Amino acid sequence: MASSENQGRIDKEKQRAAAQALRWVRDGMLVGLGSGSTAAYFIQLLGDALRAGQFQVQATATSLASEVLARSVGIPLVEPRRGLRFDLTVDGADEIGPQLALIKGGGGALLREKVLATASDYLLIIADSSKLVPQLGHFPLPLEVVPFALPWVLDAIAQLGGDPTVRLDKKKAPQPALSDQGNLLIDCHFKSLPDPAELALQLQAIPGIVEHGLFLGLARAAIVAQDEKLVVHRLGAEPVDAAGFEELP
Ligand code: 5RP
Repeated sequence: MASSENQGRIDKEKQRAAAQALRWVRDGMLVGLGSGSTAAYFIQLLGDALRAGQFQVQATATSLASEVLARSVGIPLVEPRRGLRFDLTVDGADEIGPQLALIKGGGGALLREKVLATASDYLLIIADSSKLVPQLGHFPLPLEVVPFALPWVLDAIAQLGGDPTVRLDKKKAPQPALSDQGNLLIDCHFKSLPDPAELALQLQAIPGIVEHGLFLGLARAAIVAQDEKLVVHRLGAEPVDAAGFEELP
């Protein structure tokens, strides 16, 4: 299949997964808004639903880009504050592995994404079929790193076998890409991650790594689109067809 044809199919899958996620939204909810192209479809559809009077929600975004989009489609935004918890966060993923373990941060928003995921009662992942993998690690694992610590973080990741590269700004290369917090982004090419929990502990012990892109034990469900089919994946349960899925928050 030609790659633009494939891209078109994947894009349609992203849109279908995003549309299905609206079924999780209830009137009055506080919603976390993810980042990336799949989450952007959800934000647009949520804005459409609000303008159509289907329900009212308030939201906080996981990136400046998602915040700008949310404002432009009329989603009321709340600032971070103590005690704020989200009923639902809807976000994309770069890889979805066994037990809904995720790699996230391909868009560089991993820190805010993990903050909101942790402050949420229900993290719902929406994804196209290319994201579902039998083992994490083919997608390079992103890290957000304080600039001063970069050389030592690169050494430590190389020692762990992660073949690290500093992510470049797509528009201003060779300048490095910066996160919304002004930190650097490192991509680690481990190729396969047989023990993500152990790696997460090792990464947390390296000074200068603000956050890593392993999201373990955070997602409650994932809606994965495969052509016309939409499948809901949950922890400890067989995947089910989304059409007949009733366990909503
Ligand atoms: C951004 C992310 C995104 O959720 C991830 O990169 C998926 O993006 P897309 O929906 O464009 O495939 O983690 O930091």
